[in-house]
Amino acid sequence: MAKIIAGVSSSHVPAIGAAIDNKQTEEPYWKRVFSGFEKSKEWMAQAKPDVVILIYNDHASAFSVEMVPTFALGCAAEFPPADEGWGPRPVPVVKGHPQLAAHIAQSVILDEFDITVVNKMEVDHGLTVPMNLLFGSPKEWPCPVIPVAVNVVLYPPPTGHRCFMLGRAIRKAVESYPEDLRVVVFGTGGMSHQISGPRAGLINSKFDKAFLDNLTKDPKKLTRIPHLEYMREAGAEGIEMVMWLVMRGALEDKVDEVYRFYTVPASNTAVGHIILEPHRRAAKKSAGKAKKPAGKLKRAAARAKIQRIRN
Ligand SMILES: [Fe+2]
Repeated sequence: MAKIIAGVSSSHVPAIGAAIDNKQTEEPYWKRVFSGFEKSKEWMAQAKPDVVILIYNDHASAFSVEMVPTFALGCAAEFPPADEGWGPRPVPVVKGHPQLAAHIAQSVILDEFDITVVNKMEVDHGLTVPMNLLFGSPKEWPCPVIPVAVNVVLYPPPTGHRCFMLGRAIRKAVESYPEDLRVVVFGTGGMSHQISGPRAGLINSKFDKAFLDNLTKDPKKLTRIPHLEYMREAGAEGIEMVMWLVMRGALEDKVDEVYRFYTVPASNTAVGHIILEPHRRAAKKSAGKAKKPAGKLKRAAARAKIQRIRN
């Protein structure tokens, strides 16, 4: 059966993509940002997922304001990079996984979680920048990707709780897929940022770091944050953080934080990144329990020794 082996969240700042495309990653300003993802790329090279499910938002590239689905699931065989005004980014075409995507569509919709099926879609920096940050810049992406676009650009976006529950529904879908696939779920967007208006450039590191802490320890608390609080504390575009809760909902209740990176600024935003894996201590504990019989065997051997001495 398929299983989710980890969750990864990362900002998807468009300027990061531009820095890669314009070969500026070694410049001191950008090196500070990219160096925070070196360990992540090593982790990803070890993890070697068979499929990535990538939660992101489209920035009026695939969906204009004429039609914006709240949740859209990419079921196509491939997703070309979108032209965001400077031509498509020079990144590989994203290969989809139509079989698993169709299974997720069936599972979540029949589970009464309505989602829009999208059979043709271009993907913008919201998807391609996190792919670069975690996989580098290969000629071909190393695994298929199922894009899940969440509306956070046109009021009203979904609540954090609804996003979390979508993650739960995705996990249920993945775990009922018969093929042995190792799946990593990405949540992207955020962290605190506001790109226009009198508060443009707002960054709230305290809010961001508390969000990162609770993503591991108390995600249910995060699901109760109302939209207005995101906007007040993290800026108008800080609402993108609800997408991280889709990733978190797709994981088990207890997780281990295996890596975190936070820096400001990148462009006019904060950059946050976290890698979560299923909680291992429970596994160790049960392994400890499994060792008990070995202790019993030791005592039995000691009793047998005493018996032999007596004999
Ligand atoms: Fe965005």
